[in-house]
Amino acid sequence: MSAAGRSVLAYCRPGFESECAQELAARDAELATAGFARSQRDSGFVEFVFPDTDAQARFVDSVHWRDLSFARQLLRVSARIEGLPREDRLGVLMPAIRATGRRYRDAWIEAPDNDAARELAGLCRSLNNALIAAMKREALIDPQSPWRLHVCLSDAQTAWVAEAAIATTSAWPGGIPRLRFPSAAPSRSTLKLEEALLTLLDADERERWLKPGMSGVDLGAAPGGWTWQLVRRSISVIAVDNGPMDPGLIDSGLVTHLREDGFRYRPSNPVDWLVCDMVEQPRKVAARMAEWLAGGWCRFAIFNLKLPMKKRYDEVRLCRNLVEEAVADVGKRIEWRARQLYHDREEITVFARIR
Ligand SMILES: C[S@@+](CC[C@H](N)C(=O)[O-])C[C@H]1O[C@@H](n2cnc3c(N)ncnc32)[C@H](O)[C@@H]1O
Repeated sequence: MSAAGRSVLAYCRPGFESECAQELAARDAELATAGFARSQRDSGFVEFVFPDTDAQARFVDSVHWRDLSFARQLLRVSARIEGLPREDRLGVLMPAIRATGRRYRDAWIEAPDNDAARELAGLCRSLNNALIAAMKREALIDPQSPWRLHVCLSDAQTAWVAEAAIATTSAWPGGIPRLRFPSAAPSRSTLKLEEALLTLLDADERERWLKPGMSGVDLGAAPGGWTWQLVRRSISVIAVDNGPMDPGLIDSGLVTHLREDGFRYRPSNPVDWLVCDMVEQPRKVAARMAEWLAGGWCRFAIFNLKLPMKKRYDEVRLCRNLVEEAVADVGKRIEWRARQLYHDREEITVFARIR
């Protein structure tokens, strides 16, 4: 059997293939699915190969994209096609799609996020339209299906035919939410918190946990891109930073600016949200977050862990353990969801709350 029918494909930020592979390998070890990673630096994806389709199925059933930090998307591969003919790519793709025996709610042709992606974007678009038309003709599109078809073009001649369960995978092509910069926001960092709220929480959680009248603290707030995201949801914010805050935010009447040290500040009353984008050693930030969560000073926290070091995957595990242990010491348990967002560079963004 070729490896293609027994592997998964994970998209990631180019340069982070090794962290993505380590994360998949850790889950593989827990499940004893005996797989191994194949990846190329800067390709923007990792293939994880299993010994047989049973192991592949066990892995896909147990490991969800939401639980991974470095994978932007996780797909079950059914075929890998090389030498796609330029003049009739669909003619070769369609038999592989029929062979899956499934009908799909939707079909996306996408390219991993790497240097070649821009050149492939036009091809992906035109081929996607033709593919959907061909699938409709053969009744392979079914609005009730829980499955989405993915065709990943790693180059113009190589296609991976794959699928994803819509309920448990990223809802954005390539795993990348394309957000428009809101012109009223004081900094581009605002997109990080917007993407975090969009991808780390579901729609129901956003409605319940981000209500007008709630309160928040933003550590390392200046000039105010993250604060702006809370203020636009009518959440009042204590913005802690020695640097200047955007005057428009102060005029909103919802922001109190404190020129204090974010590693020392303590709220006089518990707040709903803590957000933190201070550029500091990740362990130091994690220890600070642990203090807030264990102390019950906030209900929810979103924070950024900068990862300029070599052993980035290990550092993330260490930070997570540190927070989990501090919270366990006071008899509580934490929920931890982390992701290297599209708008994150050498860093990840974490959502944590006491369960
Ligand atoms: C990446 S910027 C934050 C950008 C902000 N999230 C936004 O969206 O506009 C990091 C900020 O952390 C602040 N900072 C770093 N160390 C700090 C500390 N110990 N206490 C308070 N602020 C700190 C810096 O002054 C800087 O404004």
